[in-house]
Amino acid sequence: MPTFAVTAALPGRAPEMLAAAGEVRARADAERLDRADLLALVEGVEVAVTMLYDRVDDELLDAAGPGLRGVSNVAVGFDNIDLAACARRGIVVTNTPGVLDDATADLAFGLVLAATRRLGEGERLIRERRPWRWGMGFMLGHDLRGARLGIVGLGGIGSRVARRGRAFGMEIAYAGRHDSPYAAHLGATRLDLDELLATADVVSLHVPLSAATHHLIDAHELGLMKPTATLVNTARGAVVDEAALVEALRERTIAAAGLDVFENEPEVHPGLLELENVVLVPHLGSATVETRAAMAELAARNAIAVAAGEEPPTPVKLPGAQPTRGDR
Ligand code: GLV
Ligand code: GLV
Repeated sequence: MPTFAVTAALPGRAPEMLAAAGEVRARADAERLDRADLLALVEGVEVAVTMLYDRVDDELLDAAGPGLRGVSNVAVGFDNIDLAACARRGIVVTNTPGVLDDATADLAFGLVLAATRRLGEGERLIRERRPWRWGMGFMLGHDLRGARLGIVGLGGIGSRVARRGRAFGMEIAYAGRHDSPYAAHLGATRLDLDELLATADVVSLHVPLSAATHHLIDAHELGLMKPTATLVNTARGAVVDEAALVEALRERTIAAAGLDVFENEPEVHPGLLELENVVLVPHLGSATVETRAAMAELAARNAIAVAAGEEPPTPVKLPGAQPTRGDR
């Protein structure tokens, strides 16, 4: 029987699935393991089921030992995992794409609405018991109908945000390294990133964090955006240069932002906290009861397949590796 290390309590059917397939070593509570406990937990296991905050690097792989066959991350993102280190050791890495696309797109579109219609600012005004009255010019935002929604990365999540944008009467454009298979169905035009930023009324980011996308949106890129435009980030904080974003929002070179992710989570840039024109939520993209259960179950299926020496449902392509069935 294989042994699974599970670094946080999982919801739904995942615990019983893993228990039926092997021995489960997990902490009883859902608290975050500190590093020493994490390293002790993975020692000698076949598969580690990890959270997006667990750093999987040579140190952790050494602690696990030569019996480790796989790392099953309970997240679509895998920037917490050193893929090259896993590839060198022949360790399979899996993630949880697909099952969180709708929940994350809902949250992203919630941020689009909250930022363009100033919902956070309005809520604060009422809760602070500040005086207000309806007025023709009071707290105006911007229409979505007829506006251009610029999606950076038209994949599973980005395409679902685009679909929501269509329902609100938005025109869809996207930027990405490849033509997206979703584009035709959405009537989405592909632009280069600079043109997308210069012409979009709302920009929503849906690229994974990697060396290529770190600070993809920096001072220069923010400078291309319209002063009436809104930026939404539900991807990873470091895709945006947070300090440059604070400047752009403070100087109103862009109108607003909605952020679910931050460069140094759970820290939030103090400059953001002082601004009215940014909506801030604590990394809630996939945070629904149903979606978290689905993520945990997919991660369990991945872990069980890897432990059995089978092709897992959703492998991550490792550097230098041959394409697997999942890529085709
Ligand atoms: C959440 O941020 C995820 O990557 O699943
Ligand atoms: C707004 O509340 C309106 O009635 O137009």
